[in-house]
Amino acid sequence: MISFGRSLRRRFLLERGTDFLNHGSFGATPRAVLASAQRWRLRMEANPDRFLRHELPGALRAAAGRLARFVHAEERDVVFVENATSGMNAVLRSLELRPGDEILATSHVYNAVRQTILEVCRRTGAKFVEAKILLPVSDGNSLVKVVKEKFSRRTKLLVLDHIASPTGLIFPVKRIAALARKRGAKVLIDGAHAPGQIPLDIPSLGVDWYAGNCHKWLYAPKGCGFLWSRRGAQAGIHPPVISHGYGKGFAAEFDWTGTRDFSAWLSVPDALDFYASLGAARIKSYCHQLAMQKAREMSLAWQAPCDGPPELHGSLIAIRLPERLQRRDPQRLIKEWMARRRIVVPVMPYGGALWARISAQVYNDPRDYDRLLAIVSGSISGNSR
Ligand SMILES: Cc1ncc(COP(=O)(O)O)c(C=O)c1O
Repeated sequence: MISFGRSLRRRFLLERGTDFLNHGSFGATPRAVLASAQRWRLRMEANPDRFLRHELPGALRAAAGRLARFVHAEERDVVFVENATSGMNAVLRSLELRPGDEILATSHVYNAVRQTILEVCRRTGAKFVEAKILLPVSDGNSLVKVVKEKFSRRTKLLVLDHIASPTGLIFPVKRIAALARKRGAKVLIDGAHAPGQIPLDIPSLGVDWYAGNCHKWLYAPKGCGFLWSRRGAQAGIHPPVISHGYGKGFAAEFDWTGTRDFSAWLSVPDALDFYASLGAARIKSYCHQLAMQKAREMSLAWQAPCDGPPELHGSLIAIRLPERLQRRDPQRLIKEWMARRRIVVPVMPYGGALWARISAQVYNDPRDYDRLLAIVSGSISGNSR
């Protein structure tokens, strides 16, 4: 059996000497999957016309089919997009909203998605309604409650994170989506962090649209996201770029939005093979336990809370920084730790406080977190490494 931790790092390109605690933001792609993408590029360049005109359409649908099976969906309901931001844009900017309609999201909404919602509201006269999530969160019921309280008769769309960016909190999507449906609101899920981090059966969630990433927790090369749509909710949803497939159906519209490098999308089957070779259950258990154990140690050492209990997390969790660091500029802190300490970890401002968000991935080892723990505790001062 392949052992996880330091020895697995050789399968990735991560530089030596850096504690990489931020798989969450952009992912890290294994060498084997990058090699697969390169093979697709070489195949394209051998005869661009043959590849792009004749071979690509079938290969793309085959890759979409593999991904669809992974999320328990059907191939024709899954299309590739550049990233989760593109998928969220496609839906948000396709909807026909009117003045007074409400889009409901939580205060955890990813900033790029927030900006998209604000632009849609500006253009249509719809209103952005925000459900405030206070940290630390005690349980899933409290997440359901804060969203429930913000529904109104005018709520037309609920935009919900599956796993939220500032904290890694897993939202009870199925329960909240049922509430939205009862009130006649459509549901768009931002699943940027979910595929590969938690088991996913998208059609069973009872939502209308689900945008996700393969380049974060599924090991695909960057520029690889997807959009799933309920069959009855596909009409009228267009990609951010309109091209030849306009009006010819969901897959036709998204599969070709102009000439591009399709290799990230086409290497998804190899990314899924890499994932399967490590074992979905083993990955989930190793990463969850590692992140939770280290978060608990940091929380105790820093005398500061985690954002919520372990059962609301996968491989991603945030710990409040101690008072001593609360007045620091988060961007400078990130830069300083990266440049001087060679620790990569995001610092997120949320609810008037600063939080360090740690990720755990199969290449991480318990020792990777110890210098961060010590530096923040104040027990290491000068440069190290
Ligand atoms: C919840 C959430 N949505 C969307 C995104 C954007 O992902 P991408 O840059 O791949 O579009 C992120 C990135 O971290 C995220 O955390």
